[in-house]
Amino acid sequence: MTPINKVIINKETSINPIWIMRQAGRYLPEFREIRSKNTDFIKLCLDVNLSSEITLQPLKRFSLDAAIIFSDILMLPYGLNQKVEFKKNFGPILGEINIGKMSKLDEIDFIEKIYPVYKSIKKVSKNKLTTNKNTIGFVGAPWTLLVYMINQQSPKKNLKKDFFKDDFLINRILLILEKFLKIHIKNQIENGANVIQIFDSWAGLLEERDLPNYVYTPTLNLVNYVKSLKIPVICFPREIKNYKEYCEIVKPDAISIDYNIDPKEILKNIKIPVQGGLNPKILLTDKETLKKETLKYLNIFKDHPYIFNLGHGVLPETDPDMVEYLVNIVKDY
Ligand code: CP3
Repeated sequence: MTPINKVIINKETSINPIWIMRQAGRYLPEFREIRSKNTDFIKLCLDVNLSSEITLQPLKRFSLDAAIIFSDILMLPYGLNQKVEFKKNFGPILGEINIGKMSKLDEIDFIEKIYPVYKSIKKVSKNKLTTNKNTIGFVGAPWTLLVYMINQQSPKKNLKKDFFKDDFLINRILLILEKFLKIHIKNQIENGANVIQIFDSWAGLLEERDLPNYVYTPTLNLVNYVKSLKIPVICFPREIKNYKEYCEIVKPDAISIDYNIDPKEILKNIKIPVQGGLNPKILLTDKETLKKETLKYLNIFKDHPYIFNLGHGVLPETDPDMVEYLVNIVKDY
């Protein structure tokens, strides 16, 4: 059994596996090298050789316990034929939604558009660097994808006032997302993904009264689907205020926490395996601070099933030596 499965399935507390959100990315010079020659991000994600190579880059450097496939949550709207572009120093920009066309899209057309993602997962999961490690497949949660699809770019701090104005359109999109997220999950698993993480990066934007409709119900649906395929599912509802309620309703196999929530509070309230928490900014400080903060999380969760990770993605300005130092602290613990 892989270390991550031992923690999630067997609830082992004697080991702390580690992987890092955005571990394949811009803080690595070898990634920047490939990226500089491949200016179209989507095309890069759809290049099987390059995307599998990028996925394995962090595993060549550090003793991480998982590979997370180099792709993006926005490959889903891309597969639904919404235009998706990544602009330098700005982030994603999406085109308008053609809901009539989107409603008629069938499974085969969707898969055909993004099938290199699945080939890349297959390639990574068969590579010797992932022996006895997990290959993590992932999706954006319906709510977070809805935010990007309607907002057409990353929201700033709040949603626009008229975000919910067309509730008929919103409900149609949510139904389409549910169908194709399941297809996307199934294909990732069939090609070798053996854990699924659901990223709900914008869960924290919602008022409490809207959580059941947009976060709990649609995510529970997906969680039940992943469970039916006998694969563990980790949820990351970033900046949600009530992790306890989320876990009780959505019931993921493990919960990934952000860096704003007090880990002691989590330990007190949450029974399922926990992942993550460390503020990625700590990696920009010094080794002494990094060690202290890392040990804080390891000590708090020493008798709780715990997978080490950050509370959000590793920042592009991070020194890879600090990542190496972090991995070693966790391994030596
Ligand atoms: O290493 C990994 O974690 C795997 C690859 C991965 C990427 N994006 C690659 C990527 C994963 C798991 C994601 C998830 C993702 N993408 C999320 C959820 C996690 C989170 O950060 O909250 C979200 C919201 C997105 C959407 C997205 N993709 C944004 C907002 C941006 C631009 C801002 C940014 O961080 O660069 C991206 C681009 C993106 N996705 C890059 C990478 C490596 C940077 C592309 C570049 O080189 O310019």
